[in-house]
Amino acid sequence: MSIKKIIAVASAKGGVGKSTITAALASHLSKSLKIGILDADIYGPNQHILFNLINSKPDITNVDGKKVFLPVMAKNIKLSSMGFILDEDKAAVWRGPMLSGAIRQLMQSTLWGDLDILFIDMPPGTGDAYLTVVSEIKPDHALLVTTPSKLSTQDTLKSFSTFSKLNTNILGFIENNIFRQNKKYEYTDFLERNIPFIGGLNYNDDIYEFNFDIENIEIELIASTLLNKLKL
Ligand SMILES: Nc1ncnc2c1ncn2[C@@H]1O[C@H](COP(=O)(O)OP(=O)(O)OP(=O)(O)O)[C@@H](O)[C@H]1O
Ligand SMILES: [Mg+2]
Repeated sequence: MSIKKIIAVASAKGGVGKSTITAALASHLSKSLKIGILDADIYGPNQHILFNLINSKPDITNVDGKKVFLPVMAKNIKLSSMGFILDEDKAAVWRGPMLSGAIRQLMQSTLWGDLDILFIDMPPGTGDAYLTVVSEIKPDHALLVTTPSKLSTQDTLKSFSTFSKLNTNILGFIENNIFRQNKKYEYTDFLERNIPFIGGLNYNDDIYEFNFDIENIEIELIASTLLNKLKL
């Protein structure tokens, strides 16, 4: 089992499009690469919904006497998520150690096989779940997502600090124009810290209304910039 690159898709700010962008990027890249997604949002997993797999369950198999999950196949993508295993009401009362344990187990007990890229769809905030991913799973890279708004960029910079302290390489940031803003937003705080712009996603009515096939989201430019940076 080898995973070439682990990329955390993050922003301390909630609701800026991390899950949507993770799914769209994974879907696009899975046409030419071996891709997996770990949904690390234990309280509110979304990947199984984005891929229309709400009623799926992972198969369980034995490896060296240990029970492991086979990832659920979402199109051509290997997906592991608490959304398949637990109903959300139960996870909602979990606290720090249980939460961290769940993420650890989800990562370690999934039979990922060989992957070119494993995306980790991060939960909002910079709490226990976040720290477990950054310090234990140790992603190779982080990809930041923000909307063109001061509150979003300021929160996203918090995740930048956490990643930087733990020496995770920051690939750059993606702008998701979720509010249909016409004016160009200057990302001075990002550029001053040498966080490069990877690309932007426009507001899209179909995404907003959840009336889309994830394969059809225009993410080609972001995907190709990402691949160049990763040298894949
Ligand atoms: N480009 C877009 N155009 C229109 N709506 C969008 C766009 N991107 C995301 N959305 C919508 O915005 C909401 C938030 O998106 P999403 O769940 O992907 O964000 P998130 O950062 O993963 O949220 P959380 O922090 O809760 O995990 C969703 O309702 C989604 O459908
Ligand atoms: Mg999300």
